[in-house]
Amino acid sequence: MQTINVNLGERSYPIHVGESLLPQAGELMRRAGVGERVAVVTDAKIAGLYLKPLEESLHSSGFKVATVLVPEGEEHKNLATVSTIYDRLVGERFDRGSALVALGGGVIGDMTGFTAATFLRGISYVQVPTTLLAQVDASVGGKTGVNRPEGKNLIGAFYQPRLVLIDVDTLQSLPQRELTAGLAEVVKYGIIADPALFALLEENLHDSTALSRELLVHVIAVSCRIKASVVEKDERESDYRAVLNFGHTVGHALEALTRYETYLHGEAVAIGMVQAAAISLRERLCDKAAFERIRRLIFRAGLPAEIPSGVDLRELLKHMEVDKKSTGGKVKFVLCRGIGATAFHWLSPAEIVAALQR
Ligand code: GLY
Repeated sequence: MQTINVNLGERSYPIHVGESLLPQAGELMRRAGVGERVAVVTDAKIAGLYLKPLEESLHSSGFKVATVLVPEGEEHKNLATVSTIYDRLVGERFDRGSALVALGGGVIGDMTGFTAATFLRGISYVQVPTTLLAQVDASVGGKTGVNRPEGKNLIGAFYQPRLVLIDVDTLQSLPQRELTAGLAEVVKYGIIADPALFALLEENLHDSTALSRELLVHVIAVSCRIKASVVEKDERESDYRAVLNFGHTVGHALEALTRYETYLHGEAVAIGMVQAAAISLRERLCDKAAFERIRRLIFRAGLPAEIPSGVDLRELLKHMEVDKKSTGGKVKFVLCRGIGATAFHWLSPAEIVAALQR
């Protein structure tokens, strides 16, 4: 097991990454000082796979456990579902010493975190992410929230968990496409902060074959360390934390333009990262060799790299302009300085279109 500490003063917490961690959850939560009444929030599919070992571990460490099942899917990440969680917590007479455990992917984690942030003005919660995407991104850093019909994550709070438990064994049941999509965020950490991680992925990602469990533990731990250090510098995204959005400006626009039906988030981000690297090349921040390494690694991971020819670039730009990072007709882009460092540039639509790759 590897442990990364997120250092945020009194809001500090550990992230444990390893194999067979679910059976140790009770003991690790005790050690982290989590109160004895807990509600595990999950959906029926994840419950069928992982609830039993988690519950057994919690019971044997003396926790009193309730389970709250929520419907599966992004379309249920809303205040109506959160309200059903509040109902259960009130019904079970949860108090300020009680805690929530988010068992699942990013949707469960964001929604459970938001419920914890707001119930009785804030109770503790533990993240137990079961997708690679949630393990390397959403479960770390305290962004919680729900969607509105007008847009994603419009309601939310920065609220840090008490503990993050990442058991790589939960990835065994993850469909290959989702695992590959999660790798996009791992590649992102290499590009924005860590040439050694990038080189390790270059050596080990052949034809998108799965990484060994040992290597997964390592790359997840390195990714979490990088995310933790960004969050430690700028917890509430006043500026610097936006480096984590490398590849996301084009990625979010592509996802929205295709109504979230065509791409998994990581796939859209993979395309967005290649486009951000192409813009970086055009802006002379990155040389051709670094750009080619990024494009080749995305390709070798089994991820898409180009904007499909059917996509109308003007429409894509419109979606970038309504993105929350834009202002004054220019879009704030996170660009890369080769591999391992970043820079922010404000770009006009013409500058963006000139660099986009089909
Ligand atoms: N997912 C980006 C962040 O946590 O800031």
